[in-house]
Amino acid sequence: MVEEIAQSKLHVAIIMDGNGRWAAARGLPRTMGHRAGIDALKRTLKAVKDLPISHLTVYSFSSENWSRPLAEVSELMQLLRFYLRSDLQSLHKEGIRIRVIGERETLANDIVEMIENAEKLTSNNTGLALTIALSYGGRQEITAAVRGIAKAVSRGEIKADAIDEMTVQKYLFTAGIPDPDLVIRTSGEKRISNFLLWQSAYAEYVFTDVLWPDFSATHLAEAIDEYHMRERRYGATGGNSLE
Ligand code: IPE
Ligand code: IPE
Ligand code: MG
Repeated sequence: MVEEIAQSKLHVAIIMDGNGRWAAARGLPRTMGHRAGIDALKRTLKAVKDLPISHLTVYSFSSENWSRPLAEVSELMQLLRFYLRSDLQSLHKEGIRIRVIGERETLANDIVEMIENAEKLTSNNTGLALTIALSYGGRQEITAAVRGIAKAVSRGEIKADAIDEMTVQKYLFTAGIPDPDLVIRTSGEKRISNFLLWQSAYAEYVFTDVLWPDFSATHLAEAIDEYHMRERRYGATGGNSLE
């Protein structure tokens, strides 16, 4: 049993933070930090291949990030377009299955089309399950789930008394994706900024001061090592406790 747990593959989720500070430290505009952030994502995707990771979820743009200056938001959307266009085929060849979670109705039509195309193209892949959180907010996700469930109840498809955790899970953007085991946040901030609120109920958190553009395979391996040193109890007593 213990061996089984040690060998099972992980769902790692990353709050990729610190692009702006990385750029500022070099006297560069913030957008250069975002560009460097894409390189860090590519490095991470390579590193994942050598690690016991089956699912990777990355926070690329939050619902709250829309409140940034228009120029920065436009640049981020432009970078996303560029990334999807240039890397989709190679991600597909690697066997990566792509899914995008977030408020799709807030995104430009061409981006929605690119996302749908990426999801469709890679839907039968059996390698890494890559989930990109884009225009994503945990509260918005839970609110949308509540709305969906309420509609189903009013149509008579679900009985209010029959709503359980499984029902809620089915209505989240992440339906069908296992909960994250480990959530990593870079840049030294120790908060979750509306990321996977429901799903991370029992995740382990690793906070590192490394700014996202500097994040490397070594940092990822270190975070996994730290995860393996933790004892997940899920509210029960620990493995060392006496009967
Ligand atoms: C993370 O880096 C990228 C996004 C949130 C889109 P930031 O842009 O938040 O960088 P800092 O936190 O200002 O350094
Ligand atoms: C969280 O980072 C969102 C992403 C990394 C995409 P933020 O930089 O937006 O978070 P706050 O504002 O520091 O909480
Ligand atoms: Mg930030």
